[in-house]
Amino acid sequence: MADLTGKKLLLIIGGGIAAYKVLELIRRLKERGASVRAVMTGAAQRFVTPLSVGALTSERVFTDLFDLNDEREIGHIRLSREADLVVVAPATADLMAKMASGLCNDLASTALMATDKPVLVAPAMNPKMWQHPATARNVRQLKADGIYFVGPEAGEMAESGEAGIGRMAEPAAILAAIEEHLAAIEGKAATQPLKGRRAIVTSGPTHEPIDPVRYIANRSSGKQGQAIAAALAAAGASVTLVTGPVALAAPAGVTTIAVETAEEMLSHVVAALPADIAVMAAAVADWRVAKPAGRKLKKTGKTPPALKLTPNPDILAAVATHANRPELVIGFAAETNDLVKNAKAKLAAKGCDWIIANDVSATSGVAGGVMGADRNRVHLVVAAGADPWPEMRKAEVAARLVARIAEHFGDSRPRRRDEAEAHPS
Ligand code: PMT
Repeated sequence: MADLTGKKLLLIIGGGIAAYKVLELIRRLKERGASVRAVMTGAAQRFVTPLSVGALTSERVFTDLFDLNDEREIGHIRLSREADLVVVAPATADLMAKMASGLCNDLASTALMATDKPVLVAPAMNPKMWQHPATARNVRQLKADGIYFVGPEAGEMAESGEAGIGRMAEPAAILAAIEEHLAAIEGKAATQPLKGRRAIVTSGPTHEPIDPVRYIANRSSGKQGQAIAAALAAAGASVTLVTGPVALAAPAGVTTIAVETAEEMLSHVVAALPADIAVMAAAVADWRVAKPAGRKLKKTGKTPPALKLTPNPDILAAVATHANRPELVIGFAAETNDLVKNAKAKLAAKGCDWIIANDVSATSGVAGGVMGADRNRVHLVVAAGADPWPEMRKAEVAARLVARIAEHFGDSRPRRRDEAEAHPS
């Protein structure tokens, strides 16, 4: 028998005849040491009583979204997020339709919308309802949304003479699915040291318009910045990547915002605050054309047009001095000479915590160069000194940097920002 001590489940009981089987499921979960909180829909209460469910869970049963005491004491947000796993059993056609379309007009559907935890559904309905194109559509949508399924199974229905696919999975099968998902969640937590942290990454070049067809840019490909965004996401952070124009596909699991100019990049970075971590890998143009021409500049006469430049905002410095400054602000330094000396000067001038310094000169020794290519050789520069890293792939630089970031945040329990603000360490 699996030990589920310390595991928290939120069980959402829908209104179907199979609701009686849920009592057996609760009994088995409790035997294994899990704590079970139950939410019952109005219809569920016609099949089993909150009294029986409460007696088995040894917890108060939640039924009403507008119970002010509940809102004060616990609230549907906490209710849905304090669980390790949310289980919907029986998941009726109606409840699944609400989930698929984002409707929330009772406590069950609202908790399902508010949760940030994995959701496992055990559908139960008449075979005709299960086969209905609307249900098939909803199942596809729910699977695409990352909802897990157990069952339904084929067999006799409660209604006499009806048989087919639609019976809710037996409690033993639901229990096995719950155990499997809880084990997967535990495994994932061990490899996600930045779970609960928010990160902002800038990447790529900026394009500063000269006229509607020409711009000032640089050779950054976005490879290093995107590798960092992907590595942070793989470590469990919730990542916003603000990227200049690049030819790369947006990394999976990252909120990617595409911009052109430094000014656009700044406004999206500031909008993404607050965050715990900022990594500014973008090669932001230091200057832009003061007044880009509204029409394409023409070759008139012999003298080429003079471009009057004006400084761009410094995004890294703006983040490092912002009222909502992330706990860890990391800049890059792209240098062609005096790498560590210049990086240290940037660290102080921009007010960041660490600088990743890379030699972008033609003599860097990195085959193919650093900008645009796949490899990099960097120094991690902090106020106290510089740590030279060997040449490696940009993805490896990203993984090593993220390991250092995770080390910085230590092995303390990942904290949500609201918790951190309430109880600063
Ligand atoms: O994109 P790739 O082809 O993979 O190449 C990666 C890279 C070489 C572009 C990357 O590793 C890198 O070094 N990025 C920073 C490039 C740069 O512009 O460095 P900088 O020394 O000019 O700027 C210092 C820091 O200030 C950087 O963190 C930069 O993002 C930031 N900055 C600079 C100017 C500005 N107006 N705003 C900024 O935020």
